[in-house]
Amino acid sequence: MSRAAEARVTMSERVEEIVVDLGPRSYPVLVGANVLALVGPRLAALGFRNRCAVLTSERIGALYREPLQASLREAELEPVVVEIPDGEEHKNFAWLAVIYDRLIEAGIDRRTPIVALGGGVIGDLGGFAAGTLLRGLPLVQVPTTLLAQVDAAVGGKTGVNHALGKNLVGVFHQPQFVLADVEVLRTLPRREFVAGLAEVIKYGVIFEAALFRHIDRHLDGLLALRRDLLVSVVTASCRHKAAVVAADEREEHGQRTVLNFGHTIGHAIETLTDYKQLLHGEAVAIGMVAAARVSRALGCCGSETVERLEGLLQRAGLPTEIPRGLKPGAIALAMQTDKKSAAGRIRFVAVEEIGRTRLIDLSAAEIASQL
Ligand SMILES: NC(=O)c1ccc[n+]([C@@H]2O[C@H](COP(=O)([O-])OP(=O)(O)OC[C@H]3O[C@@H](n4cnc5c(N)ncnc54)[C@H](O)[C@@H]3O)[C@@H](O)[C@H]2O)c1
Ligand SMILES: [Zn+2]
Repeated sequence: MSRAAEARVTMSERVEEIVVDLGPRSYPVLVGANVLALVGPRLAALGFRNRCAVLTSERIGALYREPLQASLREAELEPVVVEIPDGEEHKNFAWLAVIYDRLIEAGIDRRTPIVALGGGVIGDLGGFAAGTLLRGLPLVQVPTTLLAQVDAAVGGKTGVNHALGKNLVGVFHQPQFVLADVEVLRTLPRREFVAGLAEVIKYGVIFEAALFRHIDRHLDGLLALRRDLLVSVVTASCRHKAAVVAADEREEHGQRTVLNFGHTIGHAIETLTDYKQLLHGEAVAIGMVAAARVSRALGCCGSETVERLEGLLQRAGLPTEIPRGLKPGAIALAMQTDKKSAAGRIRFVAVEEIGRTRLIDLSAAEIASQL
């Protein structure tokens, strides 16, 4: 066996592969440790040659641009790297225009893949650029935050913020593949990592009690970034996200609704705190506990379920109480104006027990009255 083939075998043994089943738009999500070098060979295997583009932020680029470029060059791809400043405030039209300019100047054509290397901000921006430039370019998602690995990079939702609201402009654009290298989580600020863990815990609550127990049992190891544990929880999360996306690619049939567990109240809290005080995952942690309490008040679950959820989130270092000063009336108003509430009713995701949920149509006022 040639050395290259041997290397491929060793690498592929370390990689978990989940397929997002979307007929002609199906694609794999690859999860492993130290697998960044697979991006080049995977693109080459899909028939891509010559020009390719990498979109990243200055901060993430400084950490991972070089190994990614090396992998692309090795596969006979010539990467042009576009870097933008770090942060959500750059997920807007102005920076999108800069990205368009740089990519067009670089001489892209319909077969130029765009590799988005970063967290959800870069994934959304890069995905939107790829979905719109030349009416659609091939896209590869290389998520570098836990949140992006378990959620944002899988499912094809892309977009930018508008002055009147977050993510108001976007397209669905599925990638060629997603590659989640858990090794990059070592440089992620701990607060960001823990916030991402809230989304992993969410999958446990809505889909899989065994995943919830796994996180509960191995929380210390996860917080210590043990590779095998990271691979296991990212893989499990991506499997759940992939199943929901396959069932409801464009959020038309309601199967994605269950993913909103903790988000109805969480989004309201984010809005009311101006997206400044809390990270998304932290707001979701508070929202999940609040949703569990509402579920209990409605007779859907018992106190034990609320306590198990609250206990795990707290041990992970996540907040679980609505910030002081946010009144139920204000939360109700914020929930009502959220784009996900159709015709005044909200499809509220209630928990019945860890691993099982139920949808209940409620008004924002009815939810808030139980907070
Ligand atoms: N498309 C979707 O389905 C979807 C789903 C959820 C969230 N989102 C979007 O994702 C965004 C949030 O994503 P996020 O939480 O990943 O935030 P982010 O992309 O802003 O990243 C968080 C911070 O971590 C830094 N960082 C990223 N990876 C790093 C690494 N490996 N090492 C060191 N630092 C690193 C970033 O530079 C940034 O400062 C929001 O804009 C949200 O709207 C999209
Ligand atoms: Zn979320």
